[in-house]
Amino acid sequence: MNLPSRHLLAIEGLHPPQIANLLDLAESYVLLNRSGKTQRDLLRGRTLINLFFEDSTRTRTSFELAGKRLGADVINMSVSSSSVNKGETLLDTAGTLNAMQCDLLVVRHDQSGAPLLLAQKVDAAVINAGDGLHEHPTQALLDALTIRRRRGRLQGLTVAICGDILHSRVARSNIHLLTTMGSRVRVVGPPTLIPAEAARLGVEVFHTMDEGLAGADIVMMLRLQKERMNGGLVPSAREYFRFFGLDAARLAKAAPDALVMHPGPMNRGVEIDSAVADDPARSLIREQVEMGVAVRMAVLDTLSRRARRNV
Ligand code: NCD
Repeated sequence: MNLPSRHLLAIEGLHPPQIANLLDLAESYVLLNRSGKTQRDLLRGRTLINLFFEDSTRTRTSFELAGKRLGADVINMSVSSSSVNKGETLLDTAGTLNAMQCDLLVVRHDQSGAPLLLAQKVDAAVINAGDGLHEHPTQALLDALTIRRRRGRLQGLTVAICGDILHSRVARSNIHLLTTMGSRVRVVGPPTLIPAEAARLGVEVFHTMDEGLAGADIVMMLRLQKERMNGGLVPSAREYFRFFGLDAARLAKAAPDALVMHPGPMNRGVEIDSAVADDPARSLIREQVEMGVAVRMAVLDTLSRRARRNV
């Protein structure tokens, strides 16, 4: 499979066949994982470093699991992001990683572009696990796999991405992936949380849930990213839920068989009601986590085929 580079830094720039191939490979890993088998020969002798400058539960553990199921040696490095001079820290870190002869480097950072900077300095294949407001490509791939498995396709579906679009790298990667694959994408939220460039990204913008959800096949909820806000963008959590929270009554505005997604972590009662989040007939939230491991195995598999260590 030909990805545009030896790294996976973004969904933007990937072509439909490249995305479809990654999803097909991930699909085979779903079956492998469900069978309880592993494929430990694939990455035997390779080193994967999880370098996280920001908190993470699902993403870090699923990269760890994915690496281990393929036989890689996995090392988790959690680094404080409080350093004043982030550029210098990153470049120092790159030197250390090169000295360790790491093959695959998974990076999460609160600065957009940090994985790109590292990719220019390390010999390893770099995977962006979320950078600032920019992208979170493996999340979009796992979301697409989850939708495709349930609906059999991405093309022609109406997907409503709701909430804090402005601060969400998940939304950005999903918008690129879903529009590339022919879905109709809507973003729904208060004007303060919708980025100015939204319309340019080929999505429809709505400021009320009732309008944005009308007839939608997929409703994707996002967390309010308070840690990235300077305050004043939303009223109280209770007020936010009243206008933009997803409960059963609101979900009824969407298509009758609409499915609910959330990348996690969820703030129950803020953007989503527990009854909806935990409804096995409507919620794909657990399945998203399962798909996350398979997608990351597919990405590690694909990139390791072309990764070359500088020895
Ligand atoms: C997201 C992230 O970190 O961008 N979480 C995730 O990876 N599943 C979304 C969020 O933090 O709200």
